[in-house]
Amino acid sequence: MKGYKMIDGEFRDDLSWVEKYRPDTVKDCILPDRIKNTFLEFVKKGDIPNLMLSGPAGTGKTTIARALCNDMNYEYMLLNASKERGIDAIRNVIQQVSSTISLEGKNKAIILDEADGLTIDAQAAIKASFEEHKRVRFILTCNTKNKLIKPIHSRSSIIDFKILDSEREDTMIKMLVKCIEILKKENCLFDQKVLGQIVKRYYPDNRKILMVLQTHGPAGHIFEALLDSLKGADVTTLLAAVKDRDLGACRSWISNNKEEEPSILFGDIYDTFSKQVVVSDSNPDNILNLIGAIAECNGRVWNCANQEINMMGLVANLMKIEFKA
Ligand SMILES: Nc1ncnc2c1ncn2[C@@H]1O[C@H](COP(=O)(O)OP(=O)(O)OP(=O)(O)O)[C@@H](O)[C@H]1O
Ligand SMILES: [Mg+2]
Repeated sequence: MKGYKMIDGEFRDDLSWVEKYRPDTVKDCILPDRIKNTFLEFVKKGDIPNLMLSGPAGTGKTTIARALCNDMNYEYMLLNASKERGIDAIRNVIQQVSSTISLEGKNKAIILDEADGLTIDAQAAIKASFEEHKRVRFILTCNTKNKLIKPIHSRSSIIDFKILDSEREDTMIKMLVKCIEILKKENCLFDQKVLGQIVKRYYPDNRKILMVLQTHGPAGHIFEALLDSLKGADVTTLLAAVKDRDLGACRSWISNNKEEEPSILFGDIYDTFSKQVVVSDSNPDNILNLIGAIAECNGRVWNCANQEINMMGLVANLMKIEFKA
């Protein structure tokens, strides 16, 4: 099938830059030394413990899991746990991998991608498999490690992909350099400053950065005008509606902005609202209530049935807070 190739047992679109430029080796992954050296040490030693790779979307957890297996010459199978959530699917795969011997005498690994989507039963089966199949290595990836049961935590080395503020600039520049290389290879014209703004806006979500570049690069749109269209939600409009206690306006703002990336949206809401909150001796809890309201809604994002109602819950709490006139 033209434009598609078999990746981890699935046909994937190899015309997507996300796949095309996915690093195959640990060395080529862009990560802080603190994190990367941990993986390089594993490669040097030639063995890994069972791993839990946790952190925000697009930071390279799945990429590293695969790169690690490549570098260590492991025979591996990747199972997307958000698609195969049930206990039977998990048991079948684990059984299949662990009961056969590699023809080439390779070590084996099972990558359970997006493991925070697994049911509790399936997680219990995995925990049991850790003990049962000691020769198979398990690499779990997840965005929210707290959704995984404690016995899995205690039996894994947990590696957090959260990039610290002090590491951000260095890794972001490395990602920018990679983006420049990609755009040149793809023969796209671009303004380097605009590219820098794009990387800064979305980093550490490298997937998002590559998606934006592929959407706008070939059309020659990585120039100043693009920045306006990428600006995202206008949070000041929401602030005005909250101050006016205008539920209808809040509702339509939420509806218009429901596609926004939550991590960016909540950051923008915090930045805008915290500048306008009244901080006074008579109302010392005001700022604390604001932080609590935003954090609570943010925490429910991945786990709620209806995002618009979740956001209306935030609005209801914001309306109880005193803002500057
Ligand atoms: N650390 C990185 N270095 C270089 N490229 C990266 C890195 N992280 C991500 N990418 C690019 O972004 C794409 C998506 O990364 P990946 O699938 O590894 O993210 P993830 O952390 O598993 O995200 P999710 O939590 O959404 O599953 C990769 O195919 C690659 O092109
Ligand atoms: Mg992933």
